[in-house]
Amino acid sequence: MTVASDPEDFLTVQDLALTSGDLMITMPTSFHVARGETLAIVGESGSGKSLMAKAIAGLLPPGVTAKGSVKLEGCELNGLPERNWQRLRGRRVSMLLQDPFTMLNPVMRAGRHLDEMLRDDPMFHDRKSRRAEVERRLAEVGINNPAVADHFPFQLSGGMSQRVALASSLARDPEILIADEPSTALDATTQAEIMQVLKRAQGQRGMSLILITHDLRLAFSTCDRVLVLYAGSVVEIGRAGDLGSGPFHPYSAGLLLSEPPATKRVKRLVAMPGRVPVAHAVAGECAFADRCDWVDERCRAARPALEQRSPGRFTRCLRQPEIQGELDALRRVALEAAPAIPARPANECPLVKVDAITKVFPGKTGTHALKGVSFHIFPGESVGLVGESGSGKSTLGRCLVGLETATSGKVEINGIDAHDFEALQPGDRAYLRRTVQMIFQDPYSTLNPRHSVGKTLAESLRVGQVSG
Ligand SMILES: Nc1ncnc2c1ncn2[C@@H]1O[C@H](COP(=O)(O)OP(=O)(O)OP(=O)(O)O)[C@@H](O)[C@H]1O
Ligand SMILES: [Mg+2]
Repeated sequence: MTVASDPEDFLTVQDLALTSGDLMITMPTSFHVARGETLAIVGESGSGKSLMAKAIAGLLPPGVTAKGSVKLEGCELNGLPERNWQRLRGRRVSMLLQDPFTMLNPVMRAGRHLDEMLRDDPMFHDRKSRRAEVERRLAEVGINNPAVADHFPFQLSGGMSQRVALASSLARDPEILIADEPSTALDATTQAEIMQVLKRAQGQRGMSLILITHDLRLAFSTCDRVLVLYAGSVVEIGRAGDLGSGPFHPYSAGLLLSEPPATKRVKRLVAMPGRVPVAHAVAGECAFADRCDWVDERCRAARPALEQRSPGRFTRCLRQPEIQGELDALRRVALEAAPAIPARPANECPLVKVDAITKVFPGKTGTHALKGVSFHIFPGESVGLVGESGSGKSTLGRCLVGLETATSGKVEINGIDAHDFEALQPGDRAYLRRTVQMIFQDPYSTLNPRHSVGKTLAESLRVGQVSG
């Protein structure tokens, strides 16, 4: 398979296949990135995004081998000895990882990470000029307090650490930056700030960017083209606008449909059943065959080629021309707005009434997790509670199920004063335990690891006094 390579292409990946022992991790993959372009690589967990990025940056872990070619302006990078990489890395190709704490050395001050990158630049041969440059580079990523250069990573917040990691990956002004989920570990506003800094730095340098992300909205809103990876295979590549509005591959379509729009309530939520297979298990057929509603015997006979179906648009779906109408229709249905919510009768009583609750956690300064929060929930209603990390969402939920007791204010559930579960009559407490349930963020802390699934459910039914 060849993806037409343009002489303007800056990075050309041709038939790059990654293996670990006898296992295929990614199938032969080809794509290119032009100078100054942003390419998003999207795909579910385990599809091979990170290893592909590492292969391009010459950072593959031991035991993983790369076949095929990765050329930067015609110069082959695959198989390049480490001493040659040392001259290229950071300068021509640089990498930024998801977790800033793995990028930063915990025993090195923030500024030192940048200082080391600048050391072999004759412009900054003395310490004083390097320090000034470190401060200038930190300011570029939004850190205007020069004292941060003297802090250790553990003294920095997640967002601040990621800014330092970004500044050090940009320190040698790379021609291409591969950012592997650079903002996933951060909350929404910090995420947006990091992306803004990254895009500005890219624009100023005319740098190419490969952005690896789970976040489709981010991919489609910030990238020129999008590459969809599935079980180690590229299933679709196209311009962000084209792919976002009319995907050519059933997997890309499913991926887009599983992310509901942020601006309206939809009639139905779409989920793709099944899981991503491992690449070597589906090497001889369409990797998506087991999850595809349009699969037929041709899809199972051999691995389809990545074919160009319209200018700049490639798909690995054999049936795309015949099924495109159905894919488009599916999308129209999934985007159908839910009917407007009818007005509630004026005399309807709320099921949950929260009135001016506060929660102060004891401690030296006393953390105010909630400060006078009031709202009502009516029977059958869904209420979304959104807020940045640390804004008090979980504490509020825990106050409603009696896992925390509000410091002041009122909580009433179906007419029962639920402010303090411990002070309730046993009958009321049992009623509330059945009526209000919570699903926790982390399933591992919700489930007892020593109980089987059956025992866990039986226990819940016993507490709720459901017999049968
Ligand atoms: N060092 C390694 N040696 C062998 N196999 C590996 C290694 N690292 C990852 N793999 C395997 O390679 C496949 C792709 O992993 P990779 O980390 O690239 O996925 P990913 O798409 O980045 O996933 P995520 O979205 O979770 O980050 C997985 O099946 C994984 O188990
Ligand atoms: Mg990854």
